[in-house]
Amino acid sequence: MDSTEQQETLEVKIERLLPGGVGLAHAEGRTLFVSLAAPDDIVRVKIDRVSGKVAFASIIEIIKPSPVRIEPPCPYFGLCGGCDFQQLSYEAQLDAKKEIILDCLHRIAKIEAPLETPIHASPKPWQYRARATWQFDRSTNRLGYFTRGSNNVCDVEYCAVLVPELQQTLEELRNEIPSEQLPKHIDAVAGDDGVSVAVRNAGVQGHNAPIISRRIGNETYQFSAEGFFQINHDLLEAMIETALGDAEGKAAVDLYCGVGLFTLPLARRFERVIGVEANPLATDFARRNLAECTPIVREGADSARSENQETEIVTARVGDWLSQHSNSIGTVDFLLLDPPRTGAENKDIAGILALRPRQISYVSCDPATLARDLKKLIAGGYSLDSVAAFDMFPQTHHVETIARLSATSV
Ligand SMILES: C[S@@+](CC[C@H](N)C(=O)[O-])C[C@H]1O[C@@H](n2cnc3c(N)ncnc32)[C@H](O)[C@@H]1O
Repeated sequence: MDSTEQQETLEVKIERLLPGGVGLAHAEGRTLFVSLAAPDDIVRVKIDRVSGKVAFASIIEIIKPSPVRIEPPCPYFGLCGGCDFQQLSYEAQLDAKKEIILDCLHRIAKIEAPLETPIHASPKPWQYRARATWQFDRSTNRLGYFTRGSNNVCDVEYCAVLVPELQQTLEELRNEIPSEQLPKHIDAVAGDDGVSVAVRNAGVQGHNAPIISRRIGNETYQFSAEGFFQINHDLLEAMIETALGDAEGKAAVDLYCGVGLFTLPLARRFERVIGVEANPLATDFARRNLAECTPIVREGADSARSENQETEIVTARVGDWLSQHSNSIGTVDFLLLDPPRTGAENKDIAGILALRPRQISYVSCDPATLARDLKKLIAGGYSLDSVAAFDMFPQTHHVETIARLSATSV
């Protein structure tokens, strides 16, 4: 790209928001991806980068704002890499996320039928984030998040999406810890009984983060800042209900089970449950959480955890475990998978198809990889029964989606 291209500015109309949260526009034979845009904005943009017929652009002037555009409330918005949807009213954020999911299902998975996709709003559009990673740059003394598109640190004194306990922790780190003692990366997560903080220097994780817990529905989960736990705790009970629906039976498998968020409620409904997770720290927590999960007798139901209930947590990569066990573990009534953003690997999908569970619940934090994987599952003999979205990450383009499938022939 030459320097004239770097200077180029164009007036464009934003057509809609795309997966990844960027605005789509067309000008001078190019497709433009415009960051921090709102649908129907008319804006002057500068081209930041060109790749063939595609250009990446940023807004330098809002000529006519979209009807759903609002003044971003956070003073760091645009510089901080954390949020990219604050320019949209909350309703418009939800609409955009729903459209992004349907776009992925249609374009990637070729799902034609208009699927009803309810989106569950976050009870709190601000102060919802119970897990965060902060960066510290000793050379500038900045503590906060990476800036948009770089590894420079944006100094953030107040983060409007953090739960108050984490905001307080951020302030304590800033005000009470001498800067020479602050590590490069700090992970923090809030529970019912406090905040767990873990430090990482040069990619090396410390191993002394306090263990905390969170009660969600009927279950108590222990975890620490050294491993994964979901971000928006207020939505988790509804998400678990949607993911499990009325599933009950003899055997269930929970792939990428983490500390057992879905494994515990599954253990109340199925006689045999197997959780598979690669991170040994998470599987330790999952075993502990299951061991301490007390039987609950639900009114009118005989599905409480019984004495002959069998639960196993396996520390393994999902693809490896499936390739060894999918032909030997017998009939599986229900399989839940909740992979990282990259989705399931080919080997994982092949193993799931070989296992042939009667029902699948796919919990995903990336609609594009979800659609890619649904296409393979549908081609492998499953039909898509329902899709529901959860706004786990307000003020960002990220969204959690749950797709339920059933085997068309067993
Ligand atoms: C999105 S988290 C879900 C965790 C859990 N279901 C929950 O909701 O808390 C994805 C999990 O997959 C694990 N993971 C990533 N790749 C994996 C793999 N190939 N095999 C097994 N686990 C994996 C991560 O360690 C992480 O705990």
